[in-house]
Amino acid sequence: MSDKITFTIDGVEIAATKGQTIMQAADEAGIYIPRLCWHKDLSPGGRCRVCTVQVNGRPQSACTHPAGEGMVVLSETAEIIDQRKAIVEMLFVEGNHYCMFCEKSGNCELQAMAYRFGIAAPRYPYMFPERKIDASHPDVLIDHNRCIRCGRCVRASRDLDGKNVFQFVNRGYEMELAINAEADLAKTDLAGVDKAVDICPVGAILRKRVGYAVPVGKRLYDHTPIGSDIEAKRKSDG
Ligand code: SF4
Ligand code: FES
Repeated sequence: MSDKITFTIDGVEIAATKGQTIMQAADEAGIYIPRLCWHKDLSPGGRCRVCTVQVNGRPQSACTHPAGEGMVVLSETAEIIDQRKAIVEMLFVEGNHYCMFCEKSGNCELQAMAYRFGIAAPRYPYMFPERKIDASHPDVLIDHNRCIRCGRCVRASRDLDGKNVFQFVNRGYEMELAINAEADLAKTDLAGVDKAVDICPVGAILRKRVGYAVPVGKRLYDHTPIGSDIEAKRKSDG
């Protein structure tokens, strides 16, 4: 029996292999579905919901939902686009994101997503939470003001570094990133070379002493929108 399936995304027929997620199949076909908590080196977290699509009329996370024969997937409807924008806007107001002062500016996936969606100002009021910065570690700092609770560092530390340095505590709006030490980051076994240090989509986890090595203006999303690498595939395939 063939392990090939076909389904549609916004009316475009997609060839996929059984076992692939909708997002994997879409990526291969050059269709970008926005995402924030997904990372190519990690198992999908299904946390941010930016990748939500309609599958046969029901909302599902494209990063976790398996592609199925004959599925009808909608991704770029006005309603779904607005829901994605609302999530991104919520992330901006829930934290303290001052892009112009952030080392990650130009490489930040949240900022890039806002540009891609054309978000000029969030529809929600800013909450200005009081969050801490932990600069105790000799090689790494965490600025909790910028954490969007995507869980990438949690999965990377556990699955790629074999360490479990990060975890979430509390629930709902109170949820926050914690470390596996009583005091501060310096007391954990995090090393500057750990994969968890590189995997943050925003400027919440930063390596020290390498700031601005790539000048603003020459960074990943300074000239090309997020997702354009995936979309380029479709254009080159004709
Ligand atoms: S520190 Fe970064 S990688 Fe970790 S949960 Fe927060 S935003 Fe995600
Ligand atoms: S990318 Fe799918 S839930 Fe975050």
